[in-house]
Amino acid sequence: MVLLEALNWRYATKKMSGQVVPQDKLDYILEAARLAPSSSGLQPYRVFVISNKELLEKIKPIAYNQSQITDASHLLVFAAWDGYSLAKIEDIFNKIIAERGLPADAMDDYKKTLWGMYEPLGQEWHANHAARQAYISFGLAIGAAAEQRVDATPIEGFLPPALDELLGLKELGLKSAVILALGYRDEPNDWLVNMKKVRTPKETFITEII
Ligand SMILES: Cc1cc2nc3c(=O)[nH]c(=O)nc-3n(C[C@H](O)[C@H](O)[C@H](O)COP(=O)(O)O)c2cc1C
Repeated sequence: MVLLEALNWRYATKKMSGQVVPQDKLDYILEAARLAPSSSGLQPYRVFVISNKELLEKIKPIAYNQSQITDASHLLVFAAWDGYSLAKIEDIFNKIIAERGLPADAMDDYKKTLWGMYEPLGQEWHANHAARQAYISFGLAIGAAAEQRVDATPIEGFLPPALDELLGLKELGLKSAVILALGYRDEPNDWLVNMKKVRTPKETFITEII
């Protein structure tokens, strides 16, 4: 019930007040993002937490001047790997092996199969796949924010190449996938705050195959 109540409370906030999100709540949201599952446990994405006002002013025009960018307390940028490589996969698998105290060759077969699958798919597919993983983390951050009664606006309305350039993401082998503004609703000035939540009816959304 707790999660469903939170999901009914939340909405894609259109006008934020500028009120600051306390550090413990921010940490909770970021921890939910970090704990997200990802394909093969690669976590092929990183989260940038931006509260610097000057930087947010620079990001705003890149995001079609959406007011939440500068009225938010923090802006999370979910940036995904621009591609997979055997070296990156090995690096993560080696960490898993070390942390779990497994034999050094424990993941060799899996690694071979995985890279055999990924390599021929090419870098564009890799980058898209990595971005899809980032969205899982993003989704959990949205849920965690709602649980903390922190408002959030999921934002895809921005120009990824321009944001990548501004944040120097290319040099880090990353591409911005999606962003999340965190803050508090400016209730009197947000046209969406009291609007009914509209979703596809259950009967249409869910198909039971018995
Ligand atoms: C991936 C994604 C991208 C979105 N991009 C934007 C955006 O750029 N600006 C915005 O105001 N809302 C954006 N939204 C909010 C959606 O329009 C909103 O979630 C949807 O209409 C459902 O409404 P609700 O979130 O208020 O329940 C985005 C939502 C998602 C999940």
